[in-house]
Amino acid sequence: RAAAAAAARYGHVIFSGTVHEPALQLAEAMLDSVGQGWASRAFFSDDGSTAVEVALKMAFRKFLADRGATDWEVDDGPELGVLGLQGAYHGDTLGAMDCVAPSPFNGRRQTPWYAGRGLFLDPPTLALRGGAWAGAGQPAPLPDLAAVFAPRPEAVAAHRAAIAAALDAHDAAAGAHLAARPAPPALAACLLEPVVQGSGGMRLVDPAFQRALAAEARARGIPLVLDEVFTGLWRLGAPSGAALLGLDPDVACYGKLLTGGLVPLALTLASEPVFEAFKGESKLDALLHGHSYTAHPTGCAAALAALAAYASPALNPNAGALAGAAARRLPLTLWGEAAAAELSRLPGVAGVTTLGTLLAVELGGGGGGYASDAAAGVVAALRRHGVFARPLGPVVYLMVTPMTGAGEVDRLLAAMKLALADAGTGAGPC
Ligand SMILES: Cc1ncc(COP(=O)(O)O)c(C=O)c1O
Repeated sequence: RAAAAAAARYGHVIFSGTVHEPALQLAEAMLDSVGQGWASRAFFSDDGSTAVEVALKMAFRKFLADRGATDWEVDDGPELGVLGLQGAYHGDTLGAMDCVAPSPFNGRRQTPWYAGRGLFLDPPTLALRGGAWAGAGQPAPLPDLAAVFAPRPEAVAAHRAAIAAALDAHDAAAGAHLAARPAPPALAACLLEPVVQGSGGMRLVDPAFQRALAAEARARGIPLVLDEVFTGLWRLGAPSGAALLGLDPDVACYGKLLTGGLVPLALTLASEPVFEAFKGESKLDALLHGHSYTAHPTGCAAALAALAAYASPALNPNAGALAGAAARRLPLTLWGEAAAAELSRLPGVAGVTTLGTLLAVELGGGGGGYASDAAAGVVAALRRHGVFARPLGPVVYLMVTPMTGAGEVDRLLAAMKLALADAGTGAGPC
């Protein structure tokens, strides 16, 4: 109803140099919620990929401005790149693709223009294995989500030392290449999907590693960009991935759940210092980025209604639990920790990842990447039980909305157990 009213009231508005009420209200709502404490500016675009491209432009400008650049036209500094993670995904536009390591989505088979620009670290991930959160490099399994997200200062310190060494090696290589081309790029943005890498396989990156990486990037003056397109707005049972990690980024991107799935819209939030880096004598100093449908009123109205619905106890049966977990800064899964742990003990299940609305099951011995067909049998079996799911290589995942009630979650969980049994993973019905 809100979207229809906005469509009737505004139709299309060219946003350059103007503003309209739904956009203003949405910017304020986002700054007062996920942007609270760090962001003061909102930049609208159309979809997650463009939100990321805007974020990169912001971070790069801030990086250069911090290093004294003022005449952008004659800047002849090094190529700029991102500090990112293996397994990341930031969208399918050309710039967003260049921000990730070679993958099935961006290699020359998909786009001959691809050039991975940056340093991509291999992050430690955690999944429920045999009932506890475990991962390579994790000395002892962690019993529950609260332990996974606990501060764990020793783990942060160990990760930080390893990250610092990798960055020092990158910088040294860049120094050694001064005369030669191509030199490794200067790392001008630390770009992360906070907490969970979505399209990369629903991988929960160890929070201690991301906290360490953010701290090291900060210490080196590399702007922190959080791509919350997938993770933001209650997807992970918290207002944002940043809130789960206790991080204040310089720039963050939102899309997907922003409009409750009705229409595409995206938003990039930025801190005041990032905004300041675009101030100048000339109009040409501004962030000259716009789309035909920037801040489309229908999308803004839908987003305002969606954000209100997520938080409304009258409309959302999970509102109380989500708000309670957010207030106590505790992780929450709508699937139930015990149920997820039980799934992870089934034969044929290599690991389970759950947080907020997400339940992901990795089959077989894992491996094989996106090309793997290991999940195909379970996906087909789920379909026979009336559930349509998309595999990501060996991973099959179910995702509810932040407003899905316990009854529907239980139905989906039962279907997943039956499908695992049907597909002959060795898991019996339980
Ligand atoms: C983390 C992340 N960033 C960016 C994008 C791109 O968003 P869109 O598909 O809306 O362009 C996605 C889409 O899956 C995503 O998961």
